[in-house]
Amino acid sequence: MTLRLDYNNMMSHMLGTEGIAQAEIDSLSAKIANANAAMVAKRAAGKMAWRDLPYNQSQVVQDINAYVAEVKDDIDAFVVLGIGGSALGPMAVQQALNHPFYNELPREKRGGYPKLYVVDNVDPERLVYLFQTIDPARCLFNVISKSGSTSETMSQFMIVQKLLEEKIGKEAAKKLIVCTTDAASGNLITIAKQEGYRYFIIPSAVGGRFSELTPVGLLPAAFCGIDIAGLLEGAAQMDKLCAPDDICKNAPHMFALLHYIGMTRGKNITVVMPYADSLKFISDWFAQLWAESLGKQYDLEGNVVNVGQTPVKALGVTDQHSQVQLYAEGPFDKIIVLLGVDEYRETITIPKTYGDMPSLGFLGGVTHNQLIKTEQDATEYALTKAGRMNMTITLPKVTPQTLGQLLYFFEVATAYAGELMNIDAFDQPGVEEGKNATYAMFGRPGYEEKKAELDAAPAKDAKFVI
Ligand code: PA5
Repeated sequence: MTLRLDYNNMMSHMLGTEGIAQAEIDSLSAKIANANAAMVAKRAAGKMAWRDLPYNQSQVVQDINAYVAEVKDDIDAFVVLGIGGSALGPMAVQQALNHPFYNELPREKRGGYPKLYVVDNVDPERLVYLFQTIDPARCLFNVISKSGSTSETMSQFMIVQKLLEEKIGKEAAKKLIVCTTDAASGNLITIAKQEGYRYFIIPSAVGGRFSELTPVGLLPAAFCGIDIAGLLEGAAQMDKLCAPDDICKNAPHMFALLHYIGMTRGKNITVVMPYADSLKFISDWFAQLWAESLGKQYDLEGNVVNVGQTPVKALGVTDQHSQVQLYAEGPFDKIIVLLGVDEYRETITIPKTYGDMPSLGFLGGVTHNQLIKTEQDATEYALTKAGRMNMTITLPKVTPQTLGQLLYFFEVATAYAGELMNIDAFDQPGVEEGKNATYAMFGRPGYEEKKAELDAAPAKDAKFVI
């Protein structure tokens, strides 16, 4: 079972002048060859360590599964404390592969696995309300931070640690905290060792948003009964599928190229619209990957380029009643990526209740499976008729293997888009300024200069606050 990319509706035979001609793709052969070479060279130089994850983690999988078996029966909930690349993947994988109301199911219907909560914000209400919902003494808290120093995550950790120690004592608290972090950088590894917490390692060469297939994603998934070896197997399948240099045989590379061409034509937005609730949070995970990797001020030569494409999250069919009006008739500034599935896990049939009412009668005997698929096809048709670039990625069925393929597909596509755009897809200098300003506002030692800069910044004028 392999996912497929249908990009007919990006092409001129479907969209006329709004579409891309095959000749345009052919004319980019030198650029494509350069990007292919850069991908190979960077992988060989260890700069794409995330590409090796499908192959080098059998021991990690074994350790994680053993750990899950050891502790799962002692806890009611597994709580992820993390943010960005340390939270979005665990949410997406859980939503994709487990029951949509997983936490509400009785334990036996969860296969005996604990509930999952992901706390990816420092809104004070979040933790307080969580503590009102769960018994912290019956939870395993997974502190995930690649850098080991992210304020949001580390502050959550400090709150949870104090709460647990006060409630059940330091020794017992140790068993309820597990860390996922880099082996060397930041404070978290030091703390884990010092306090005697169990920990799992994120390979140092794997960046946050490319880390879902490390213990960042594998540990929470395994605690929810997900087949993590299957996820990696799927990623390995996709890795083989994106080997060809011929872009017409390489779906992730083609996805990136089509977006690249789209950007040169002012398509500054890409909408990811799954037609499956199970894939809803894949859009969130993709949004971070695409935005943080490709939104850059400088190219690789240091020229100011200010490039990137804004990812928008939508859900079919729900957002047909919200955003599709804009997509069909608004500015020609978007590419719409529909994410479909051939086979849903369940089937439900609409009863033939109002056969005598034409506006309802046609629905009688139809399944929701047919309805959602038909609406997807109809939206695709309407977008294409309106001259809007769109393409469809279809998963035969959402399984650990196909999901692993999809995650890896988007990672490769993002890296390849970075090569085509001649930018560094693996850094995120733009988020540093806000972080540094936060540190300076708190008077963190070492940020005195930043504090002075903030103090010298123009003051707000009250007349513009109404
Ligand atoms: O992709 C990234 O590097 C970021 O989005 C990080 O994942 C995010 O900032 C969290 O960082 P960390 O895992 O170091 O706490």
